[in-house]
Order: sequence, then C-alpha cells, then structure tokens
Amino acid sequence: MITSREQALALDRDDELAHLRDRFELPEGVVYLDGNSLGALPKSTASHLEQVVRREWGQGLIGSWNEAGWVHLPERVGDKIATLVGANPGELVVADSTSVNVYKALSAALTLALTERPARRRILSERHNFPTDLYIAESLARQHSCELVLAETPDQIPHLLAQGGVAVMMLTHVNYRTGRMHDMAALNAQARQAGVLTLWDLAHSAGAVPVDLNGDDADFAVGCGYKYLNGGPGAPAFVWAHRRHADRCTQPLSGWFGHAHPFTFTPAYEPASGSARFLCGTPAVLAMAALECGVDTVLAAGGMAVLRRKSLALTRLFIELVDTHCKEHRLKLVTPRDEAHRGSQVCLAHEDGAYPIMQALIAHGVVGDFRAPDILRFGFTPLYTRYVDVWDAVQELARVLDSGDWRQARFERKGAVT
Ligand SMILES: Cc1ncc(COP(=O)(O)O)c(C=O)c1O
Repeated sequence: MITSREQALALDRDDELAHLRDRFELPEGVVYLDGNSLGALPKSTASHLEQVVRREWGQGLIGSWNEAGWVHLPERVGDKIATLVGANPGELVVADSTSVNVYKALSAALTLALTERPARRRILSERHNFPTDLYIAESLARQHSCELVLAETPDQIPHLLAQGGVAVMMLTHVNYRTGRMHDMAALNAQARQAGVLTLWDLAHSAGAVPVDLNGDDADFAVGCGYKYLNGGPGAPAFVWAHRRHADRCTQPLSGWFGHAHPFTFTPAYEPASGSARFLCGTPAVLAMAALECGVDTVLAAGGMAVLRRKSLALTRLFIELVDTHCKEHRLKLVTPRDEAHRGSQVCLAHEDGAYPIMQALIAHGVVGDFRAPDILRFGFTPLYTRYVDVWDAVQELARVLDSGDWRQARFERKGAVT
C-alpha cells in the first residue's frame, strides 16, 4: 500500500492506460468518481456531434439515413459494444433505455419459457436488484399470471433455482448498491441444468468488467450506454439475445424498425432476423452518435483485461486507504473484499450520515453519489481515474469525517437526483 501522494503520482507515471485520460474533458480540480452513474464526456463527442448535426443533418438532410448510415447505427454501435461483452457481430443492438430493454428481453424470455414449460410460472430475481428491473418484472409477472420470487441474498439463488418452478432468472451482474459481482458462468450453468432461461442486466458491467455472454452461456442481456460506456446523459441502451433464441423469440414492442422489411410498409408484422427484432421505433441518431464516441474510448484501451487490472488496482487501493485513514469512523465496507466478486465501484455504508457526507465531499471536489438509505458510492473508471484521485478522495473523506464538516445543515438539502 502507498503512504504518500508522491507514491500515488508515481503509480500514475507507470500506468499503461494513463494516456487515455486525455480523451476526456474533465474539469480541473475535480476528482470524478461517478462514472458508474454518468460517464465523463469524451473530447471527440462534441466535434462528432457537430459534424453529424451540421453536415449529415444540415447538408445531407434525409439522405443521411442512407448516405451517412444512420439507419445502421443500432447494429454498428451494437457490434462495437458486442466486443466488450463477449457477443458476436450482429447479435447485439442499441435501442431504447435499459428499462425498456428489460421489458422486451424479459418478455421474450418468459414467452419462450412459458411455451416450452407452461407449468413453470416463476421469475427469479433479487430483492436488492435495481428497482426498475423489479418493477418491470412485477408488471410482466402480472400480465403472464406468474410470480416474482426474490432472493434476499445472493447465496439463496441456487436454492431457489433448485426448488423448481422457475421460468426465467433475471439478475444484475454487478449490483448498483453494493458493487458485488455475480459469477455469471456458474449461475448460468445452474440455470441451464434447471431448465431456466437467464437475463442479465449489464448496466454496471459493460465497459467496467470483462463479460463473456457467449462463453458463459447466457440467454439474454441488456445494458446501459451512459455509465462506463460514456455515451452521455440518457444515452441509448443495448439488448442481446443468444443466437439459439434470437430467430425464434418474440418481443412485445413489435415496431416497424424491428420488422424484416420496414420500408415495404406491409400491414402485417414480420420480425427481422436475429436481434434486430428488438428494435422498435426510429433510432435516436444524435444520441447514438454520442454513444459511439463513448464506446470508442473504451475500445481504445485495447481490451477489457487491461481495464480490469487497473480497475482492481484502483478499488483495492481505495479500500486499503479507507481502512487506514478512516478507521475511527463508522464506515462499513459493503463491497466484497474478494476481488472475484467486485465490480468497478466501492460502496461504504454510514448509518446516519451517508447523504451529508457525500454532499460535503462533492462540495470539496470529490464527486461520488448516494444511494438510499445509507450508501456512499464511488465508481472507478480506469480510462480516466488516476491513482492520485484515489489518494486525494480518501484524504478528503478522512478530512470531512475527522472535522465533522458533514454535519452542517446545508449538506442535508436533497436534490431530485442523489
Ligand atoms: C442496474 C441498472 N439497471 C437499470 C437502470 C436504469 O436504466 P434506465 O433508466 O436507463 O432505463 C440502472 C440505472 O442506474 C441500473 O443501475
């Protein structure tokens, strides 16, 4: 472990990914540890969007759907993301939001499962899954007369699978509040053995940790564009179906962009082949253009293995420094110390002060976020997070705690987004 800021700076000098930080516009004097919520702005985005807006839209007008390839953006950007999550070209498309894609993919999985094994009427997930996934699963469970069964802890999942009656298991690979990562390969194998289809939410995984959807034998997956993929606020999301399902599954939002021949304008729906059937309406061209710039920053690292190495080094250092510099305080590490179960974030619980402590940190230039009821969340993005950022963040956290600064009333004020 390091014991000085100079040592942190030395780690940065030796960092093989250090040059990638220059691809981002980051404000001076800010330690940004919230790329797990909103990735930083790539320098290329503004000029690329300007070109798309002024040249492709302004000059090319409607012709740009063909000439600039707008119509193929969902597949083109999808193919790039595919390389980050172990999917093949043509298997993954960019579309809609993660929530909408959860709806489409869970519905597709459930419909397949119920057709093949109608007696199984359970959707298995976790109580601590991201709420939007649970809300959508609740709604689909109601529509299909199924039951949503929730594991209280990750170790209950294998037991609930073995109990039987499960049609689809829907999990988030890296938990948003704890940073805990599931063993996708092991859970897929257990699910397969139990005849259960799997749907993975990769919101905190894509661009953050290595994922191998085909190698680990998943069935369906969705993920987010605005976190580690740096696609910008509200960036489009993605959806993937294993090729054994892609040509036979149906999704409920059967819009014209998921039609086999949208421009024949036939009244009857005929799904496109493969994952393209998960498209619904006209692609959000500007948002996809921004997402492509963000994905390119991740591809510039040259593979997820090198990003994972640095991500673990950053989270390990953060945990060690918190252990050392903040041990007098009632902070509890929520994220697993076991690196095999750690995503690219570290979460600390504080019983009564998590919100104001985070606000005090933000006021002093260390940006993480708060997740109710008691979590301070710090995201580490190896593309632009430096070792010295980790050092500075922990020094500031220790200072805020030691001084009691966070107890000021102004840090209690809540914004709509925390
Ligand atoms: C795990 C997970 N799934 C889904 C979402 C929601 O995605 P969206 O609001 O883009 O639909 C989030 C948002 O943070 C998330 O963390």
